[in-house]
Amino acid sequence: MHENLNKIKSLEGSPKVIKKFLNSNEVEKFLKLYSELPVTVNNLKQKVVKKRWISGFGKEQEQILRERIKLEIGDFVMDNINEKDGTECLGLFQESFNPIGLHVDGGFNLKDIIYKQTLLPLSNHGETIIFKNRYYGPSTNFTNKENDLKENSPENFKKGKNVRSSDHLKMYGDKVFNKSDYEQYLKHEDINNLNGLEVEFVYKWNLGDLFIFDRTHLHCSSCNINGKKIGLATFTKK
Ligand SMILES: [Fe+2]
Repeated sequence: MHENLNKIKSLEGSPKVIKKFLNSNEVEKFLKLYSELPVTVNNLKQKVVKKRWISGFGKEQEQILRERIKLEIGDFVMDNINEKDGTECLGLFQESFNPIGLHVDGGFNLKDIIYKQTLLPLSNHGETIIFKNRYYGPSTNFTNKENDLKENSPENFKKGKNVRSSDHLKMYGDKVFNKSDYEQYLKHEDINNLNGLEVEFVYKWNLGDLFIFDRTHLHCSSCNINGKKIGLATFTKK
């Protein structure tokens, strides 16, 4: 559990879509940066390609992102997992062909005052589902599958890998998840893994937008992926 709970809660707010965050020329610049970065992860099973945005690449894009995020959320410190050699990472590009399951991006240092996360869509199709429910632990994948829960180990936390947990099923009551939301957005999840959850906001990806939400929100992709989607996720703390 995070130590600075009161401070973290005092910084919380509603999810926010910033329209025209980038113009089409700038979108192209971010896509070019994506194409130039080395691949970090190519996971054939999850069908996802991840590229860390390592400091030093895309100086112009970095300035755009930092300055414009600051206009929206005020002072912040980037909180992405840095390279082993200490090189700063400015975000994570993810190209996914499969929807990402229910999780929270609470980080790995429970002393931090976690703040907002941003999603910069670099494709026009894609949806992100934000739940009303919040979680104040570290970065966690929420699952009711025994096999996934077995992946938990104390080393994972040190390595910066998400914890696997079914704690969410004990926290928010056992109300059955809304059927129409399930059919519309969440068919990739087991509906029993969503007990007690309620949708707060559905963000439909749109090129040029920036989507900002609190790091304490449970969230996931929707099941509606039209082929593949590419987005840049960045995490902040105070
Ligand atoms: Fe996430």
